[in-house]
Amino acid sequence: MSLKEEQQKYMQALQQYAEGKRFKYHIVTYGCQMNVHDSEKLAGMLQEIGYEETQVLEEADIILFNTCCVREHAEQRVYGNVGALRSYKQSNPNLILGVCGCMMQQKETAEDIIKKFPFVDLVFGTHNLHHFPRLLFEAVNSGHTVVEILDEEGNIVEGIPAKRASNVSAYVTIMYGCNNFCTYCIVPHVRGRERSRLPGDITDEIGELAANGCKEITLLGQNVNSYGKDLGDGYLFPDLLRDVNKIEGIERIRFVTSHPKDLSDDLIDAMAECEKVCEHIHLPLQAGSNVILRKMNRRYTREDYLKLVDKLRARIPGIAVSTDIIVGFPGETEEDFLDTLDMMERVQYDSAFTFIYSPRKGTPAASMPDGVDTEVKKERLNRLIALQNDISKAKNQLYMDKVVEVLVEGVSKNNPKMLSGRTRTNKLVHFEGGSEIIGEFVNVKITLPKAWTLEGRMI
Ligand code: SAH
Ligand code: SF4
Ligand code: F3S
Repeated sequence: MSLKEEQQKYMQALQQYAEGKRFKYHIVTYGCQMNVHDSEKLAGMLQEIGYEETQVLEEADIILFNTCCVREHAEQRVYGNVGALRSYKQSNPNLILGVCGCMMQQKETAEDIIKKFPFVDLVFGTHNLHHFPRLLFEAVNSGHTVVEILDEEGNIVEGIPAKRASNVSAYVTIMYGCNNFCTYCIVPHVRGRERSRLPGDITDEIGELAANGCKEITLLGQNVNSYGKDLGDGYLFPDLLRDVNKIEGIERIRFVTSHPKDLSDDLIDAMAECEKVCEHIHLPLQAGSNVILRKMNRRYTREDYLKLVDKLRARIPGIAVSTDIIVGFPGETEEDFLDTLDMMERVQYDSAFTFIYSPRKGTPAASMPDGVDTEVKKERLNRLIALQNDISKAKNQLYMDKVVEVLVEGVSKNNPKMLSGRTRTNKLVHFEGGSEIIGEFVNVKITLPKAWTLEGRMI
């Protein structure tokens, strides 16, 4: 049976099963945008079967946990939250409880979940998301836990419906997997090798989104800068940016993530040329010391990185730069850490995600001698955060009384009277306004710059 026939067969069977029952689903998502978008695909399939979304766990007929294993903390939360559902399962024996995503792609962890939580009905990894209709069918029709984890990534499957969180701004995956094997990172182990979608499939999807009113797209990949290399016909990420830039209706283009070692001059040129590509780049530094960068297998030096930032700022005036930084990598000395602080000071990031190194089983760094005290790592993290806070605050101050163009994304999460949206430089802006302007571009005068967000008045 071809995949398409399989999908059709099980979708139809599930549609019959769900007919008239008003089934509801709830998906809990951990991790990066890649997982967020995978959840949108799971939601898309469930909607097509006839399920409706609910935010109320008690009324859900299926609850899915789409998991992340990039750090231990992410895994612990999954254990806690799945365990907490034991009583739901007791009060609603028909409830289907599924655990999927990166954490389940590791066989040992999947086995552990099944052992600790025997009431889980369905377990699958990242490589078989497209088999979800069959797996769900098996789960609702069998009394035992359905488990399917594929070792190999297989080919890209197109045409899976997605129910996106927003009509205004959409994620579009352009490639799957990662080839870089940074020594601390589990992602290549759970997401497989780099596989690029065909340019036509990507532009068709974006064209359709634009026809439905989407204004902004974020192209997703673990390292979008190496998009196309596996396709072997010379069509690379800058070419894709130029083609996406031509799509009518799309006004803003963003992308994550860019590995510094693959940020080519042609890409910087494409970013500068394409008027829809926003003035923002997320460029993970990870560490400021060349010794640590080498141990991390990042394949650039601090000097290379600084040159890139100079080039970006020269070609794209006003470009915002954000980053990811890890402290406490095995063997990190105070001197190494001072190099990281120094880089933060030199680059003057707009924002930074900062993490304490978390050993991941099966990665090379997990068996490197460490010797750095946990308290020292926490203290380093706090120093790093304090410095970035000062820099972010000072940078945001520069927006005082400035007028910025904001794409209105929705009602503010913390204050239902306010709307929120982003500048092209990816700054979150809150301002008063009615929900009728969601999806529109408005001009906002900044009246109150804060450390992480800006507040203003629509003009
Ligand atoms: N592909 C992206 C994102 C990878 S995961 C990239 O290369 O930037 C997001 C971030 O998590 C990484 O940038 C890194 O800073 C952090 N991270 C990954 N593995 C980690 C680990 N074992 N411990 C702590 N932080 C980690
Ligand atoms: Fe992990 Fe490095 Fe790949 Fe990013 S580039 S996903 S940090 S291995
Ligand atoms: Fe986590 Fe998987 Fe993303 S491990 S960071 S959800 S690719």
